[in-house]
Parts: sequence; C-alpha cells; structure tokens
Amino acid sequence: MTLDGTRILLVIGGGIAAYKALDLIRRLRERGARVRCVLTEGAQRFVTPLAAAALSGERAFTDLFDREDEAAIGHIRLAREADAVVVAPATANLMARMASGQADDLATTVLLATTAPILIAPAMNPTMWRHPATRRNLETLRADGVAVVGPNAGPMAEPESGPGRLAEPLEIADALEALLGARIPATAGPLAGRHVLVTSGPTHEPIDPVRYIANRSSGKQGHAIAAAAAAAGARVTLVSGPVTVPDPPGVAVVRVETAREMEAAVEAALPADVGIFAAAVADWRAAEEAPSKRKKDGGAPAPLALALNPDILAGVAQRTDGRPALVVGFAAETDDVIANARAKLARKGCDLVVANDVSAAGGGVMGGDHNTVHLVDAAGVESWARAGKDEVARRLVDRIAALLAARQEGTP
Ligand code: CTP
Repeated sequence: MTLDGTRILLVIGGGIAAYKALDLIRRLRERGARVRCVLTEGAQRFVTPLAAAALSGERAFTDLFDREDEAAIGHIRLAREADAVVVAPATANLMARMASGQADDLATTVLLATTAPILIAPAMNPTMWRHPATRRNLETLRADGVAVVGPNAGPMAEPESGPGRLAEPLEIADALEALLGARIPATAGPLAGRHVLVTSGPTHEPIDPVRYIANRSSGKQGHAIAAAAAAAGARVTLVSGPVTVPDPPGVAVVRVETAREMEAAVEAALPADVGIFAAAVADWRAAEEAPSKRKKDGGAPAPLALALNPDILAGVAQRTDGRPALVVGFAAETDDVIANARAKLARKGCDLVVANDVSAAGGGVMGGDHNTVHLVDAAGVESWARAGKDEVARRLVDRIAALLAARQEGTP
C-alpha cells in the first residue's frame, strides 16, 4: 500500500464540503495510512467528531483548551506525530488564518507547530476563491512551502459555478502520495538511477540596475516536473530563473537570473539522462547593460539595442558529445500551436516538444495552475485534456520514463 505506515493528521475545515473529508479518511486508510482528525468549530457544524472518530478508528480532536483532549495527547504531540498534515476542506477563513500565522484554535495551533509537509485542499465559493485577499493568502502559503491540490471547477452547492469545489478525495490522496513520495527520496521508481535536468521559470535580462526584460512564466510547470521526476526516483537538478514558487522537495536547485547564467548552469549540470527545458527563456537581452539608471532626460526615448540570447535547448539537443538520451522542449505559442511546435522539434533537434497555447483563448496557462498540452514528436501529435500542472507533470514523467526505457531496449 502506497501510504503504508504513514501518520496523517487531517484538519477538517468548516465548509459544506466537509462531508467529503469523511470519505478522504477512508481513502487514506485504504492506502495504509493512520489518520487522526482535528475538526475546527465550523467543521463540527457539518460533520461530527464522532463520525470522524468512527471512520479513522482514532479519537478526533476539537479543542485546544479541552482538558480531556490535551490530557489524551497534547497539541504539540499531535503536530509532531504526523508525517504530513492535510487540510480539507481548506476554507477561505482557514487559509487566511494559516497565512497570517494565527494560532487561535487547535487546528491553526497544530498547523503552526508542525514541521511536517502540509497539503491544503481549498474549497469555497468561486467569488471568494478569486478575491485578491484569497489569492494573496494562497501565494503566501505556497511561498511557505504548503502544497495545494484543487480546487476544481464545476457546480457548487450554491447556484454558482466555477473554481471552488473541493478536489475529489482520490485526487487529494494522490497529491499526498506525490508530496510524501518526493520528500522521501525514492530508491525505486521508473527513473531510479537516472539524472534528470530541468529548466524552469522566466529569465530576467537587465537593462540597467533597476529594469529588466522578462515574461510571465511562473515556473509552476517546470517545478512540478522536477518534483514528479524526483518522486519517480530520479536525481534531479532544477535550474530555475527567478520565481516565487517554493523549491520542490528532494531536488537540487540552482538559481539563476539571466539566460546566459542558465546556459552556464545547464552545462555545469551535465551529463544527464534526460533534459527537460520548461523555462521561458528571454530570447533577447539588452545589448549593453547600463551601469547606472537610464534617465528620461526630457528628449526622445533612446532606442534599446537588443542582442540574441543563446538557445539553451538547441545547444544541448545538438551536442555531438554528452547529449542526454532524451531531450524534451516546450513550445509556448499563441498561434498555430501544433505547426510551430513541429517546426521547433526539427529546428532545435529535440526528441519531444510539449506544446501549449499561451494565448488568452488557452485559458491563462502562464502563471495559472492548469495546462492543456500537445505532445509533438516524429511520430505525430498527442493532445491531452486540460489538467492541473501537477497532473500534467506526473503524466509527462511517466511518458519520459517509458520512452527512455524503450530507447535503451532498442525499440523505437
Ligand atoms: N529555449 C531555450 N533557450 C532560449 C529560448 C528557448 O532553451 N534562448 C527553450 C525553451 O526552454 C523551450 C523551447 O526552447 O523548451 C521553446 O521556447 P520558445 O520560447 O517557445 O521558442 P523560441 O525558440 O523562443 O521560438 P519563438 O520565439 O520563435 O517562438
């Protein structure tokens, strides 16, 4: 069983989706986990501690100041005796309290006192989910290293539809497995013994000490791929441009700013069995970086001379010596997605291009949490349905492992 022997602390928040947390307890136990539950006061309006206790087979905890609870097992022990903490449903209120580090009830106290990895499964009304305050809290939690699964889009309890539905219990269990799998360096797995090199994020090309050329890449897809490759047993080097997403667990991260630094870091990380080039490298840099701030000086704007950056992917794919067995490129396109990806496959000399539509019609891929990708290789095109970037990463890593194994067995 995949979660065999792990101790999971499940914090149930107060939302209508709390009933699904009861199913989650069963799913986690099916996979071999020991589950202890903490219910917030709000949660107890939707589900009872008795139900959580019956399904988990353990006492359920509710109150920081309850003498019986604290005598049975104190909040610090609850926090320590967990290999991971799952918050489901994570309501807007609970996320806000977590993000600001409050400890005003048992749930938030335990969340503050634990050093175990935390996975939250947000669930709320779509308008609340989109609210700038919730976006801010989400970014803060991510920067603190909290993993997030969902929410999904779809019909809600209220007559409103959109992102805000709690991820399904099976999705939450999968995300937890991925989180724990990545933390505990895998010795087995389809990529065990392989070195995987991943580039991710944008690059920043300085114009002067205060300005730079950049793009909207968040690094979410590249980082998710690095995490998935580590979970599949690989030794992973992640060369990342400036991003705010947290470092994936179990991965060696090399931070760079510019395309030329990224190229040098990639060269230094070789040899690798697989190179995955998910970074949105700036194609151009300022031909000359001004040593001091460029001033307006009242006149006509001074033209900005640009120089072409090295193509890092093409450089690696076209190596005659020490080329990774598999080189995977990305193609971020706004028009003619497949045709452009095909052209890139040939021009750069990679084995596979993962193409995505980054136009507004593509649904906000850049910076967003979802991606719709098309796999383009010499054999043709395979289009995948829109999915979360973590899910795309896992599928892609599975595919890469299979391609690598096939190549080494000599099958095409
Ligand atoms: N890439 C790279 N180095 C560059 C530019 C791109 O390694 N200087 C890699 C990206 O990481 C990605 C792939 O090349 O895997 C395609 O990037 P993209 O920006 O879509 O392609 P470009 O070569 O920039 O082509 P164009 O701007 O004409 O679309």
